[in-house]
Amino acid sequence: MTPEANKVYLIDDDTEMREATAQWLDLSGFVVQSFADAASALDHLNECVDGIVISDLRMPKMDGMALLGHLKELDGDVPVVLLTAHGDVQMAVDAMRRGAYDFIEKPFEPERLLDVVQRACDKYRLVSENRDLRRRLAEPVGLEQRLIGNSAVIRRLRDEILDVADTDASVLIQGETGTGKEVVARCLYEFGARKQGKYVAVNCGAIPENMFESELFGHERGAFTGADRRRIGRFEYAQGGVLFLDEIGSMPLSLQVKVLRALQEREVVRIGSNAPQPFDVRLICASNRDLLSACAAGKFREDLYYRINVVNLRVPSLRQRTEDILLLFDYFAVQAAAAYNRPEVSLQDADAGLLMSHDWPGNVRELKNIAERYVLSSLPQYQRLASILRQPELKDSTLQRSSLQDLMKDHERLLLEQALLRCQGDVQAVMDVLDLPRRTLNEKMTRHQLDRKKYV
Ligand SMILES: Nc1ncnc2c1ncn2[C@@H]1O[C@H](COP(=O)(O)OP(=O)(O)OP(=O)(O)O)[C@@H](O)[C@H]1O
Ligand SMILES: [Mg+2]
Repeated sequence: MTPEANKVYLIDDDTEMREATAQWLDLSGFVVQSFADAASALDHLNECVDGIVISDLRMPKMDGMALLGHLKELDGDVPVVLLTAHGDVQMAVDAMRRGAYDFIEKPFEPERLLDVVQRACDKYRLVSENRDLRRRLAEPVGLEQRLIGNSAVIRRLRDEILDVADTDASVLIQGETGTGKEVVARCLYEFGARKQGKYVAVNCGAIPENMFESELFGHERGAFTGADRRRIGRFEYAQGGVLFLDEIGSMPLSLQVKVLRALQEREVVRIGSNAPQPFDVRLICASNRDLLSACAAGKFREDLYYRINVVNLRVPSLRQRTEDILLLFDYFAVQAAAAYNRPEVSLQDADAGLLMSHDWPGNVRELKNIAERYVLSSLPQYQRLASILRQPELKDSTLQRSSLQDLMKDHERLLLEQALLRCQGDVQAVMDVLDLPRRTLNEKMTRHQLDRKKYV
C-alpha cells in the first residue's frame, strides 16, 4: 500500500493530550487520524497501514508496547513513535530494541515532535516506494521499470518518450555522461513502432576516422586494399528498424556531410559502388557535449544538427533529481544482490546522508557501481559506504583530474585503514600484515592522521 505522504495515526487515551498533539500535527500539514485506545486503532489498521503511528506507551488494556508488537506483525516497516512519561526510559529503550522508530518524552516541545514525525514519514515513504518498485520489478516490464525514477523531471522524460516513440521523427538525446542516454534510446525503440525491426547501435567515438564511411555505408568487394568481400553498412543493416548513433559529436566533419546527404536522400552509396541503396531507418542520436556550441566552434555542421534534432530529449543529471538517488541505489543493490547471489542489504540511515551529499559527476553509472560494491563489500555494513566513497579508483581520471602522487597517497591511506580495520587497531598485527617496520608505520599513520584507537 503506498502511504499518503504525511499520514499519521495517533493513539493516546489522554483526551487533552491527544487533541493538542493532533492539532499541532494538523497545523503542520500532517493528516492525522486519532484513536483513544490501541484496540480500535488496530481494528482500523488491520485493513491497511498507510501511515506512521504515534502511540502513548502507557495505556489501559493494550499498551504501546503490545500495539508495537501487533503493528510489526502487520507491517514490519511502519515507523512507530512512542510517547513516554518521565522515568519510562528503560521501557523506551526496550521498545527501540523491539523495532520502535523513536520515542518522545512527555512533556515535549512541538518542534521535537514535528522533527521526529517528519523523519519517520520520510523514511516510510522511501521504504514504501522501494517496496512498490520491487513489486513492479516482478511485473511485465513497462517504461517505469526501464527508466527508473520518481522525480518530476524523469516522469516528464518518460512522457516525452511515449509521445514520440511511435513516430519516425529523428531524436537527439543530450545529457551528461552516465545519465542514461543509451537507456532512453533503447526505450524509444522498445516502446516504438519499429520494435519488430533491428536496433543497431554505433558508437561514433570508437570508430577510427578512416573506417567511418565503410562502417556506416558499407563497401563493395575490392573497393580498397583489404576489402576482400562486400560489407553492408549500418544504415542498410538497420533496415526497417532503428539506428542509434551514439556520441555523434565525435563524427569527423568529412563524414558529417555524407551522413547529411544520406539522410536527405534516404539512400546510401556503398564505397566502390555507383548504385544508391534506399534505406528505411529511424535515426536516434546521442551526445554528452553541447552540439550547438560545437556548431558555433565549427566542429559540428549546423545543417546536420537541425536534421537530427527534430525532437530533443534532455536527460537530467543526478544532481537535478536528487530525490531519485536513494530509490536508484536500492534498485541497483537489489539487482546486484540477485546477480551475485548475495543477501539483500537495506541502506542504513547514516548512509542515506552520504549518498545525498555526494555530487555524482558520473551520474547513474557511478551510483550503480557504488551500489554494486556496497552489496559485494565484506566490510561491516556501517563502514561500507564511507569506505567505498573514499576509494581513489572511483575518482576516475575522466571525472576528476588528480595527480598520480595524490592518487597513490589516497590509495596508501585506504590500504592502511583497511589493515587497521581488519586488525582492529592492533599495530603489531598491521606491521605484520603490511610487512612494515614500526617506525615507517608510525610515520605513515601520523602523515595520514590515522588514530589506531578509532579501530579498536
Ligand atoms: N533511469 C535509469 N534507470 C535505470 N538504470 C539507469 C537509468 N539511467 C541510467 N541507468 C543505468 O546507468 C548506466 C549508465 O547509463 P547509460 O549508459 O545509458 O548512460 P549514458 O548517458 O549513455 O552515458 P555516456 O554519456 O557515458 O555514454 C547503465 O548501466 C544504465 O543501465
Ligand atoms: Mg552512452
